[in-house]
Amino acid sequence: MNAAARKAAAAARLPAAVLVVVAVGAFLISYNLLAIVLRGGGGAATGAGRERDPVVAMPGWMRAAGSAGGGRRRPFHVALTATDAAYSRWQCRVMYYWYKRMQARPEGADMGGFTRVLHSGKPDALMGEIPTFVVDPLPAGKDHGYVVLNRPWAFVQWLEKAKIEEEYILMAEPDHIFVRPLPNLARDDPAAFPFFYITPSEHESVLRKYYPKERGPVTNIDPIGNSPVIIKKTQLEKIAPTWMNVSIQMKEDQETDKAFGWVLEMYAYAVASALHGVQHILRKDFMIQPPFDTKLGNTFIIHFTYGCDYTLKGVLTYGKIGEWRFDKRAYQDRPPPRNLTLPPPGVPESVVTLVKMVNEATANLPGWDDGR
Ligand SMILES: *[C@@H]1O[C@H](CO)[C@@H](O)[C@H](O)[C@H]1NC(C)=O
Ligand SMILES: *[C@@H]1O[C@H](CO)[C@@H](O)[C@H](O)[C@H]1NC(C)=O
Repeated sequence: MNAAARKAAAAARLPAAVLVVVAVGAFLISYNLLAIVLRGGGGAATGAGRERDPVVAMPGWMRAAGSAGGGRRRPFHVALTATDAAYSRWQCRVMYYWYKRMQARPEGADMGGFTRVLHSGKPDALMGEIPTFVVDPLPAGKDHGYVVLNRPWAFVQWLEKAKIEEEYILMAEPDHIFVRPLPNLARDDPAAFPFFYITPSEHESVLRKYYPKERGPVTNIDPIGNSPVIIKKTQLEKIAPTWMNVSIQMKEDQETDKAFGWVLEMYAYAVASALHGVQHILRKDFMIQPPFDTKLGNTFIIHFTYGCDYTLKGVLTYGKIGEWRFDKRAYQDRPPPRNLTLPPPGVPESVVTLVKMVNEATANLPGWDDGR
């Protein structure tokens, strides 16, 4: 179809009233602008490819037009690294459910497309439910049984092969629940959550193996992991391959492995970004971690990595199985049942909200009890 025919075909779909307005206003706008608008509209009506994230319904031209005046919209793409294990799948379903709910709100305008970056090497049962990009796991044995080493490799592959429209990326994890629409917290510098247990200054001798003295003080290394982080795609494209190398080198070095344990891959991201001269804006309000954070405050994400154990009087019994409990690790092989019992009186707001939000998601997700 040539441009004129396409324009005619697109025009045929427009209601008469719109055509009158267009006709009256046409002499005011240049032919080129009109052609762009009509072509964009026609493309959106016929296009919308199957593999496109169904949530991103707004065509590119409309978005561009919307951001032309006033404050520029700075959408970020949500990238959720995951495996095909039942444990990862149910968390991803809850996570994606709340992403969609928050994105639909007016303040959710910065929340762009969504991709589950599935690093198990093959499709799983959620392909039709969550936009997913399958990447390869590390070669057998390379992760030394530490499955999160696959994360940097997953990002390297995804960034190389996928077409990502947004300029920014949020690195997210399955145990994140959006409690409020998340704005783009990044500027030219990325934004990250500071973890109290990532303490570069206490590990100077180990870190110097990866961040030599001539690079500057180890305090250049931010107290963060890779998630949650909102970062420019161009910055992450540089950092990800270094992050992968550093994490593998750290894992293969006994002293480092022993010093960092299960947070090794977080240190690897912090070091890799410092090696590229990237510093993060530290945002404590990025997320909360029940049961230690008790109030929601102004946070955006609940990270449910810790078990929540309480007596029936509402007293925290951390580390000891409570009379009432919610712990994601209790649901390794199957999803939690629908309608979990709410915590007893006295349990903090953060935990109550978490359980209510899990319940709302599981009540609305089809086939939940089949454990897909
Ligand atoms: C990662 O390590 C490999 C092998 O040692 C090397 O060839 C590659 O250049 C390194 N890449 C980066 C970005 O450090
Ligand atoms: C959820 O469980 C409570 C009891 O814990 C019950 O009263 C309520 O009706 C249940 N709701 C649904 C939707 O099944």
